[in-house]
Amino acid sequence: MISIRLYFFQVSCFPLASYQVLVWSGRFIWRGRNGNNREGGENPPRAQRCEGDWQANATGEFSGKGPDQEEPESEDRPERRQKHVWKAGFSIKGTDMEILNNSTTVVADKSFSDRDSQDIAGEAHRFSDGDRNAFYQTIFSRRDVRGQFLPDNIPEDVLSRVLMAAHYAPSVGFMQPWNFVVIQSKETKQQVHQLFDKAHQEAAEMFPPEKREIYRNLKLEGILESPVNICITCDKQRAGPVVVGRTHIPEMDVYSSVCAVQNLWLASRAEGLGLGWVSILNPRSLKELLEIPEGVVPVAYICLGYVSRFFDKPELQTAGWRQRLPLVELVNFEGYGKPAGGEADDQLLARISRDQQELETKGYQPGFVTAR
Ligand SMILES: Cc1cc2nc3c(=O)[nH]c(=O)nc-3n(C[C@H](O)[C@H](O)[C@H](O)COP(=O)(O)O)c2cc1C
Repeated sequence: MISIRLYFFQVSCFPLASYQVLVWSGRFIWRGRNGNNREGGENPPRAQRCEGDWQANATGEFSGKGPDQEEPESEDRPERRQKHVWKAGFSIKGTDMEILNNSTTVVADKSFSDRDSQDIAGEAHRFSDGDRNAFYQTIFSRRDVRGQFLPDNIPEDVLSRVLMAAHYAPSVGFMQPWNFVVIQSKETKQQVHQLFDKAHQEAAEMFPPEKREIYRNLKLEGILESPVNICITCDKQRAGPVVVGRTHIPEMDVYSSVCAVQNLWLASRAEGLGLGWVSILNPRSLKELLEIPEGVVPVAYICLGYVSRFFDKPELQTAGWRQRLPLVELVNFEGYGKPAGGEADDQLLARISRDQQELETKGYQPGFVTAR
């Protein structure tokens, strides 16, 4: 809902080339509710109130700029300052101006510097094409690394950054239930490796006989070769017994620690570091070895270090253990396992299918982020 009140109205006329252009300009107050808040309710009118200058010419083009906004800075995003740029057609009947095809662009820009207005509101918050490419490239080129570790030291600034990325992960009720046990001593690594050896042998027996030999030959850890190992834990008591968001699903705290692991994994890839997750360990033995107290769960044991190479595809895929599933078979509509329910769903699936085929055949291409 948008209403624009124009007050103090001025008409000026000035020569441009060989003809004259009529220009109206003035001040406006803009009030609108053009979106829902994060809880899904309507924004209060005052949240969308601002003042600014407008200008219109005789060709029926109208534009306005809101140099400032009256709403207080948002609590959860205090850095978010906004600049509004409007472009619209208009018609004038008597003294009333009717705004046609109103489009509003919110340019989020701390500095309020002039930027070209863009037509899609979502673009205001979106990263540049280059940054989005870097982001997706990180995701699609991340690998679980086991056998390609180099002994090179990880500089402390790099280690600090990737740990920070992990710590800034989301967590249920903002619990931040994680600890990061950094292991660099050869002795501790050897002890963990012994735990792996034992669990690995036990695991082989769990597979059907025809798969056991293949399993035994898979390289599934890089504990000794990698310069740094990190055990990421989850302290279930970190925020007391009742935690916002964990009231009905107690595993949410462990899921939060997994989010930290994923942040660490992606940040490491961006830094050129390989990361391998080792889960073939008896958790009780690992807890004992690392002196992890009662109520704290070892969530992930990871190996970290520079690598000789990153493979294009998961090693388990290359070894023929399992293939990447087609995403279209995993996207359901309105209920688990339910197929596409209309043309829009079909179109989405067709797009997903094309995107995945391209990824699988050509690998990640920078054009991924632009509409094709
Ligand atoms: C929770 C979890 C546990 C994993 N545990 C192991 C492991 O014990 N040993 C191993 O070699 N890889 C482990 N992986 C890595 C997966 O095998 C790997 O992510 C998968 O094969 C896909 O390959 P990619 O990560 O290179 O894309 C684990 C991954 C996850 C998410």
